[in-house]
Amino acid sequence: MKRSKSGSLVPPFNPNKPPCTIDCSARDAPPTSPQRRARAFGILGGAQAPRHSLDTRVMPSVPLVRIAELPAHAGQSVVVRAWVTHLRSSGKIAFAVLRDGTGICQSVFVKSQLPAAVWARFAELTTETSVEITGEARAEPRAPGGFEVGVTHLTVIGPSPSDYPIQPKEHGIDFLLDNRHFWLRSPRQRAIAVIRNEVEQGIHDFFYERGFLRVDTPILTAAIGERSGLFATEYFEEGNAYLAQTGQLYGEAAAAAFGKIYTFGPTFRAEKSKTRRHLTEFWMIEPEVAWNDSDDNMRLQEEFVSYLVQRVIERRVAELGELERDVEKLRGIVPPFPRLNYTDAVALVQRKGSDTKWGDDLGAEDEALIVADYDKPVFVFNYPKEAKAFYMKENPDDPRTVLCDDLLAPEGYGEIIGGSQREDDYDKLVARIEEEGLPRKAYEWYLDLRRYGTFTHAGFGLGLERTVAWICGIQHVREVIAFPRLMHRLTP
Ligand code: 4AD
Ligand code: MG
Repeated sequence: MKRSKSGSLVPPFNPNKPPCTIDCSARDAPPTSPQRRARAFGILGGAQAPRHSLDTRVMPSVPLVRIAELPAHAGQSVVVRAWVTHLRSSGKIAFAVLRDGTGICQSVFVKSQLPAAVWARFAELTTETSVEITGEARAEPRAPGGFEVGVTHLTVIGPSPSDYPIQPKEHGIDFLLDNRHFWLRSPRQRAIAVIRNEVEQGIHDFFYERGFLRVDTPILTAAIGERSGLFATEYFEEGNAYLAQTGQLYGEAAAAAFGKIYTFGPTFRAEKSKTRRHLTEFWMIEPEVAWNDSDDNMRLQEEFVSYLVQRVIERRVAELGELERDVEKLRGIVPPFPRLNYTDAVALVQRKGSDTKWGDDLGAEDEALIVADYDKPVFVFNYPKEAKAFYMKENPDDPRTVLCDDLLAPEGYGEIIGGSQREDDYDKLVARIEEEGLPRKAYEWYLDLRRYGTFTHAGFGLGLERTVAWICGIQHVREVIAFPRLMHRLTP
């Protein structure tokens, strides 16, 4: 028997023979009958997971469980693999709080009931050491997470030096972002990631249940979608390729083919904005629906956003609690949402002291003035043509404007959706492409959609990070994506 670097005893490896139990404490003495033994290890009547060749468990018959699964194993022996978050010892009894991504649990070490080697190994632990423990799972209302494991075996998998950068004290945001790969391990970051995942799953479920087809659109493109900054890269003999600012133009082609589609992908904007709402790489969801007009489009948006918010409230109340989100502010997010014509919106912000004039796009300050009057997201619709992208349909009732909408989130989170009915008239679209000085050649395929069976259609783009930031009540979008890309940040 040799001793591994971490100090645990490692029996010689033989894949055909499960390693023998070496660290049995008095409490965990081998039971006599096979039945009692099975019961002690919690495998009676239950299927045993197959063992893979890297399985290092000292007692392979004991089920390997995640912390969230502990309640289902109360009174049984389990193996847990996790990282240490807190340590405390009185000299006779010691505690290590563990985290495995599904939850936290307390592991208890009782000196008088443990072999000296196991007790000594506890002293090696530091925060963020990765460990494997074996012991009995039991409810303990006083323990963080409500469950504890009475440890009989401890294996140190990966030690962690004592200079772990993130300490239980206030850190500046730049320090935290430099250490984002560690910062993700905090309970708050886990809560955000879980809510983001819930929103992403909700997006797929919403569209799947309504018969939309998901279409993946290219990231390397020649046709430019939006006015904001472009990331360009050389593309063989073709000249410049641009990282997609939107999947929309391709979404329109797919809508003519499949009817109702959505895209969900990363989008890129070389924007030199250092606001709390801007990333250079963010994720956008873009539905496109054949035969929808601008009103249908807004109805779909309010139904979609309400669905996502209500789903998070229903399923992720613990994570919202971790973030101290005021859930009452989210409960009322149900259709219909208030709608303000652009002209009325300008009059409203002017009454509140803004010097924005008719024809200007609305800035973040104007948006804040508008939403202050409401506790639901607000649509501002039919902006002036000059303020918006080339593909939006001219408003037949007022050709100075286009049939579009921005959806502004409450509580000052700003625009979460930009949407519009698309220009379906070939000549008008050509004129807009030329007015904007866009390279016509790159848009011939897009113009084909108007040449061959043009159709009324509309769609929108929901910014995932802004939406998740609002639902979580997080001030800055950089915290709701695992590895944010900002103007001055490309690592980690
Ligand atoms: O309003 P935008 O620019 O609209 C489009 O890209 C359209 N092609 C969408 C469509 O009709 N299919 O962007 C849509 C949304 C914004 O409302 C905002 O939520 C988000 O994308 N967004 C950003 N999020 C984070 N960082 C940025 N730099 C963003 N730019 C836009
Ligand atoms: Mg917009």
